[in-house]
Amino acid sequence: MSKNGISRRRLLGGAAAAAAPAAIGLSGLLNGRGPGPDSALAAGESPAAAGHAGHAGHAEFPHATFAAGTSVDHRANGFDPTEILRDFDYGTTRRLPGGRVLREWEIVAHDKEIEVAPGVKFEAWTYNGRVPGPTLRGREGELLRIRFVNASEHPHTMHFHGIHRAGVDGMPGIGELGGGGQVEPGQSFTYEFDASPFGLHLYHCHVAPLAAHIARGLYGAFIIDPKQGRPEADEMVMVMNGFDTNFDLANEVYAVNTVGFHYINEPIQVKRGELVRVYLVNALEYDPLNSFHIHGNFFQFYPTGTSLTPSEYTDTVIQGQGQRGILEFEFPFDGDYMFHAHVSEFAELGWTGFFRVGDPAKLSAAAAAAAYCELPWGEQGKA
Ligand code: CU
Ligand code: CU
Repeated sequence: MSKNGISRRRLLGGAAAAAAPAAIGLSGLLNGRGPGPDSALAAGESPAAAGHAGHAGHAEFPHATFAAGTSVDHRANGFDPTEILRDFDYGTTRRLPGGRVLREWEIVAHDKEIEVAPGVKFEAWTYNGRVPGPTLRGREGELLRIRFVNASEHPHTMHFHGIHRAGVDGMPGIGELGGGGQVEPGQSFTYEFDASPFGLHLYHCHVAPLAAHIARGLYGAFIIDPKQGRPEADEMVMVMNGFDTNFDLANEVYAVNTVGFHYINEPIQVKRGELVRVYLVNALEYDPLNSFHIHGNFFQFYPTGTSLTPSEYTDTVIQGQGQRGILEFEFPFDGDYMFHAHVSEFAELGWTGFFRVGDPAKLSAAAAAAAYCELPWGEQGKA
């Protein structure tokens, strides 16, 4: 078992046992009836015994919850998922001779401990101090220049998805002569390429062991707007991710934009009848598939955002790691609408949130209950 006594499999083993035969599952967790960490299946313990413990009641099993007023310290983290949602980094621009736009950024990698759920700390590796890294956004046809500084204790790169020369691909062993391979601690490299093709892409470190470098938090969304732009909308970026807090090659916390259950605590406020555009990226490591499902609504889906014509009208989309797409929808009714991974396991471990449509002063019953939800991580989850 893990060194701090918590693991994803252990949590879910307990949850599954406690849930049978009465399905507790996601709704149970959100209504504060779910099994706490104490009911998780201990090594050698029978599922039946764990299930019994899970039903034994809260009084005997005290543990931390949102209701106790615990929440992630966004200030200490240096970023807030509510702000990350609509935070697009356009860099700085200037016109080159001939009129073309040059767009520039500086990205600094450094190591930083972050809190990914209340009390659950993670030794992250970051781009610009945040996970996910900044959402870099430019326009088709521009010249993009990204100065990458490695202030981490480990070698890293920035590998961009897009069409470019091998020398600026951020691949160790390739382009080393031009300095475009592995960037050692204290070194820097400037990537430069055309913004092409338009769509929703991503960037991430490509140093081996690759899974470890990505799982530590070195990834971000990369948007290239089409020349003609897209229709006006309330735009937001959602990077689906997870955290292997005990380094056992399985995630204990799942999220959109890093903090588990954040958008339950702070529902995403949107206006009824207004077009919402979600830039959805799957950066999840260690699990082959992730998904996004919306309640009470359907969306138009643009895979990779590389076409202006949607390919599907649906309420659920599945993505492998590195896959991404643009979702467009509007809510016809006021209320609180859940969105979550339709991988129930992930949803129960943090990848769940709400859109709040209409008057923010009106707290609906659903979200009120959810705001007091009980997390599967408790004292045991603390570092
Ligand atoms: Cu790296
Ligand atoms: Cu990639």
